[in-house]
Amino acid sequence: KSTGDVSRALLRWYDKNARSLPWRIGPAARKAGKRPDPYAVWLSEIMLQQTTVATVAPRYSEFLKRWPTVDDMAAAPLDDILGQWAGLGYYARARNLHKCAVEVAACGGFPDTEEALRELPGIGQYTAAAVAAIAFDKRAVVIDGNVERVVSRLCAIDTPMPAAKPVIKTQAEKIWPQKRSGDFAQGLMDLGAEICRPKSPSCLICPISSACEALAQGKQEYFPVKAPK
Ligand code: ADE
Repeated sequence: KSTGDVSRALLRWYDKNARSLPWRIGPAARKAGKRPDPYAVWLSEIMLQQTTVATVAPRYSEFLKRWPTVDDMAAAPLDDILGQWAGLGYYARARNLHKCAVEVAACGGFPDTEEALRELPGIGQYTAAAVAAIAFDKRAVVIDGNVERVVSRLCAIDTPMPAAKPVIKTQAEKIWPQKRSGDFAQGLMDLGAEICRPKSPSCLICPISSACEALAQGKQEYFPVKAPK
């Protein structure tokens, strides 16, 4: 199997099986080449960093309803943002949310490159890549815990974590498509959440199982290799 086959198979699976989440656009809009609002992508990715999808979904919708645009959020007092954030933890995220909104509003919108996004408050390597790929369709390699697990299994990366991280990134770059980078990223996330689970992955229905080195070795759950004690 060539690397192009992996991305094609995953994107085809994503087209049929993408989770319906409030920060995503629907399949019809995706097919028409539409992109989600950068503000919505940024807000969701910041919220999702240390909080689960199930917890974030309703809280994200409340935020977006209260502040539909980055200008609305920039104009709000910080205390209102902190109040709306209540219970989500890691309050530095809420402070940076406001700081970032103010800067972005002043610039007239989000920048569209990973490098420029990285300059903004609270936006690290992961968020910059996620926003560039999902909102702007830039080829940015987006690696979260789910993507890490999928790639480490696909390529049977036997370096233990966290030393495996740069190896995973190099392998991810090889399979990452030129087009539909954001869909590919979210496809890997959904695959990791629903099929390539930490325990008992559903390899029988995995769209990329024929390319999976861990499956070929019969060692799916062995990857990613845990740090030595
Ligand atoms: N976790 C972090 N970002 C995500 C996204 N865009 N979709 C699903 N899960 C995620």
